[in-house]
Amino acid sequence: MTASAPRIPKHLAIVMDGNGRWAERRHRPRSFGHRAGQKAVRTAVEYCLRRGVGALTLFAFSSENWNRPQDEVGALMELFLKALDREVDELHGHGVRVRFVGDLAAFAPELHARMRAAMERTAGNVALALNVAVNYGGRWDIAQAARRAAADAVRGALDPANLDEAALAPYFCLAELPPPDLLIRTGGERRISNFLLWQIAYAELYFTDMLWPDIDAAELDRALGDFAARERRYGSVGSTRSAHA
Ligand code: IPE
Ligand code: IPE
Ligand code: MG
Repeated sequence: MTASAPRIPKHLAIVMDGNGRWAERRHRPRSFGHRAGQKAVRTAVEYCLRRGVGALTLFAFSSENWNRPQDEVGALMELFLKALDREVDELHGHGVRVRFVGDLAAFAPELHARMRAAMERTAGNVALALNVAVNYGGRWDIAQAARRAAADAVRGALDPANLDEAALAPYFCLAELPPPDLLIRTGGERRISNFLLWQIAYAELYFTDMLWPDIDAAELDRALGDFAARERRYGSVGSTRSAHA
């Protein structure tokens, strides 16, 4: 008998943190770190395609990141625009379906339009579902789900008495995908920072001190190896203990 293949996450979510510190260590502006971080995005996408991870959700810009200095926010928007121009062809060529999740209406019309165009162009691809969370907040997601469910209730399409977890679930971002089973945060902080909240109820968490621009396949291998070794109990008892109840 061959050894069983290691368990691969179906959906990997990543808080890409540490770009600013990466740049500061090199005495360069923070925007230099964000540019370097783009290369790491490519690394992560290629890795997921190669390892057969079905969905990758990247936290690129939080609803709180607008509070950063104006020049940093401006540099990030510029970077998003350029990345859209440059990367979408290649992603499309690799069969990647690109989705932007978050409150997209807050972006400049040109950027918003290009995000929509990239989504439409790649909508039929199936090799990897790549979700880029921009102007996203986990609490915003809960509020927008509640708002849309309430609107359906008002027009009679939903009975509030039946609004249980299963009925609310389809209103959340990424509802069409299995929930992330592994969440990685780079950059040393051990917090969620208002990323996915509803969706990560049972995700395994992996924190690394490595700064996002330094991420490579070896560190992703470590994260996936760690994930494969974990026992997921979902509130039940472990598989080795259930026989001895
Ligand atoms: C993450 O890196 C990227 C974004 C939030 C846009 P940071 O910019 O937060 O980097 P640090 O945490 O300051 O090092
Ligand atoms: C989280 O990183 C947001 C993204 C990676 C896009 P932050 O750097 O904004 O988080 P905090 O401020 O350390 O919590
Ligand atoms: Mg940070």
